Amino acid sequence: MDSLPVYVTVAQVDEIPPGTCRTVEVEGIFLALCNVNGTFRAVDNTCPHAGGPLGEGTLDGEVLECPWHGWRFNVRTGERPENPEICVACLEVRVQGANVQVKIPLTL
Ligand code: FES
Repeated sequence: MDSLPVYVTVAQVDEIPPGTCRTVEVEGIFLALCNVNGTFRAVDNTCPHAGGPLGEGTLDGEVLECPWHGWRFNVRTGERPENPEICVACLEVRVQGANVQVKIPLTL
């Protein structure tokens, strides 16, 4: 098993304005990184419906809508508002200076 840093820089703060999101990659893992009114959130980029790229979706408050068929996920909880039993994984995010960092597992 490979050891990895706990927090990894995935973007700069000014690359993702409030109300937007984008796909980022860290250690082979793709994430949807969202700026919710200045608070950064990260969820698994792969939509559980049919694999759509959530990082290319539309952010409305803390709800991210998949660009393929419109399934929506709360990026704070990972849950679908319409059906909380369906969710995406959330990762911890922190801002260090100008860097947005994501907490990743110690081992993959
Ligand atoms: S793949 Fe995301 S809603 Fe269908």
